[in-house]
Amino acid sequence: MSTPENFSSGRLQIALGLQDVVVDESKICFIDGVAPKLLYYGYNIHDLAENCSYEEIVYLLLNGKLPNKAELAKISTDLVAARGLPAEVFETIKHAPKSSIPMDVLRTCVSQLALSDPKPNDDTPEGRYRKSIRLTALFPEIVAADYRNRRGEAPNKPNPKLGHASNFLFLLHGKEPGPSAAKTMDVALVLHAEHSFNASTFTARVIAATLSDMYSAVTGAIGALKGPLHGGANEGVIKTLVEIGDVSKVEPWLNEKFKEKGFRLMGFGHRVYKTLDPRAVVLKKYSEKSGKEHGVTKWFDMSVKIEAMMKTREKPLYPNVDFYSASTYYTMGLPPEIFTPIFAVSRVAGWCAHVMEQQSHNRLIRPDCAYIGVMDAPFIPLDKR
Ligand code: COA
Repeated sequence: MSTPENFSSGRLQIALGLQDVVVDESKICFIDGVAPKLLYYGYNIHDLAENCSYEEIVYLLLNGKLPNKAELAKISTDLVAARGLPAEVFETIKHAPKSSIPMDVLRTCVSQLALSDPKPNDDTPEGRYRKSIRLTALFPEIVAADYRNRRGEAPNKPNPKLGHASNFLFLLHGKEPGPSAAKTMDVALVLHAEHSFNASTFTARVIAATLSDMYSAVTGAIGALKGPLHGGANEGVIKTLVEIGDVSKVEPWLNEKFKEKGFRLMGFGHRVYKTLDPRAVVLKKYSEKSGKEHGVTKWFDMSVKIEAMMKTREKPLYPNVDFYSASTYYTMGLPPEIFTPIFAVSRVAGWCAHVMEQQSHNRLIRPDCAYIGVMDAPFIPLDKR
């Protein structure tokens, strides 16, 4: 029982933030935060990032194995076939208040997708798989339609000749991306697709564990991803870089900021990684490449300087996935407000994989808390209060 006595006596212990609490088994993702190492279904993230398309990763996450050529062709066709946003979702985007932020629009539209699904609550394995493909296919369209609507531009129709990453850039800009931009986006999508029991994925699993549906689980996950301590950090990173403004100002700016109590530098620190996030290693390369290609290297240079300074602090902190993705996207001409939605465009596949895994051996997720409130308060009738 969660009485104060049971906690003060040590019979029960609070795991604030669920740190080090192991709630289930999973075959999907392995993280060694010290080595460091990140595996999707056993495969090293470095091999996957350099050699696989996002479609291969979607197949891997949803099926537990890398696809052969025929399987890859099939899932690619399925993803293309599932494209095409329902008219009412475009309407929602069109009528969203100008003050709304893209993550709120995405969350609302994803919830709305359930209404145009003839079988939103089909929880057979086939039903869950179909919904995973549909959600994965439609995320880029929602994000891109909202992006264009904010600029007073009509949405672009998906291009069936283009793969997932290229089509996403096509939807955003209305022209086919060059090979370098397409590769950079593909790599970013591969890197963000999955990360074990992180906050948004755990949210999805909690919802799935009530035997609710995939749309509900993914909608909840978007809400969790939005926060600045999770996926929202990438937006915070670019705001920081813009505020600093120049590589020469990094040192005084950081020194000043760290005098502020409770200051958090976005894109640094991690619950699991106690050293450099392996995804940041890959993105650092792409940030440099993108900066050089677009003739704007200052965001990368500033980032490198910040990384070096943070490493030498008394308590060193290392970049996470959000740090170098920010400068990569920014030099590609993408605005900060869609950085977190891009994260969601990728992570949806991981969320769906976890919903399927959770429901394959389900048990309700229901932790306890240490009650510190009043006990057995004498009831006072309304007219006496
Ligand atoms: N900037 C400054 N200090 C940081 C920090 C950051 N980005 N991240 C962690 N710390 C410090 C904390 O102040 C705390 O210091 P203390 O022990 O002196 O109190 C210590 O490191 C541990 O931080 P804590 O918040 O308890 O770790 P956590 O595991 O709960 O949090 C994050 C992990 C990711 C939420 C945290 O590192 C953070 O806020 N990072 C910035 C946001 C971000 O980039 N999120 C994306 C994660 S992929």
